[in-house]
Amino acid sequence: ALPSTAQDGKVSRIVPTLRPGAGVVTPRGAVHYVVTEYGIAYLHGKSVQERAIALICIAHPDFREELLAKAIEYRWVHPEYADIEGRIVVGPKEVRTTMVLDDGTLISFRAMNPTDEPATRDLFYSLSRETIYYRYMQHLKRIPRKQLRNFVYVDHRNEVAIVGTIPAAHGEEIIAIGRYYLDQKTNRAEVAFVVRDDWQNRGIGTFIMKHLANIAKRNGIAGFTAEVLRDNRPMQAVINHSGFKVRSQLQNGVIHYEIDF
Ligand SMILES: CC(C)(COP(=O)(O)OP(=O)(O)OC[C@H]1O[C@@H](n2cnc3c(N)ncnc32)[C@H](O)[C@@H]1OP(=O)(O)O)[C@@H](O)C(=O)NCCC(=O)NCCS
Repeated sequence: ALPSTAQDGKVSRIVPTLRPGAGVVTPRGAVHYVVTEYGIAYLHGKSVQERAIALICIAHPDFREELLAKAIEYRWVHPEYADIEGRIVVGPKEVRTTMVLDDGTLISFRAMNPTDEPATRDLFYSLSRETIYYRYMQHLKRIPRKQLRNFVYVDHRNEVAIVGTIPAAHGEEIIAIGRYYLDQKTNRAEVAFVVRDDWQNRGIGTFIMKHLANIAKRNGIAGFTAEVLRDNRPMQAVINHSGFKVRSQLQNGVIHYEIDF
């Protein structure tokens, strides 16, 4: 991998512009991946904005703010992105894991990061009406860009999100997302996840539940809460078979769960 900094961490190797006269050995069309200790930027076939953000994500955190400001100034990145600064992170590597389904299919899990915006949008628009209703408790027909952006920018402290992926011709496809939001007052986190319809009922939801609980425990969180529609049997099964102590209360068609680790 390319170290993200040089000169004892004083300068970033990811830079907004090259010095005048600097030689270019590899043209940008030939570069598919750039790798630093902060992760992998997959650049092939991406727009200028996506490439800039992907590269900022793998720069040293001390330089990300400055790089984002420059990218906005040069109009490579839309000014709307200014308000998500501070959340440009490639989440912790420790959340990486894999699961093998009964038929041998390998699903890779990793932290969600800002370059997941297109794949997350694709996932959303591939979900059935019922799955969207169970996840969002309303019949959403579209997901506004701002909401999508908020969804993929995660600080990985109070909010943790992981994605389950399978390889695809253009990189990877996201087939599942799990996330939790910490309520600092109660030290419990609200958990929610979604598995693409054609991958449901193969154990992925159960796996995400356990994996998120391990991450939350490591982060010192006491337990989860969840809000599940009364008709949503699969999610109830995932919670009830999680092995944790579970309390539940039904109110207006929604089951409120308290899950203790
Ligand atoms: C809920 C959800 C995440 C579960 O993911 P999944 O990968 O399908 O879950 P799993 O395969 O691990 O487990 C599904 C469980 O539901 C059970 N199940 C499936 N359909 C069922 C039904 N109609 N009635 C009763 N149980 C059912 C399965 O038997 C399984 O239970 P088991 O582990 O005891 O065998 C997924 O179905 C989903 O994305 N649903 C829509 C979004 C949603 O509801 N999100 C949760 C909001 S909090």
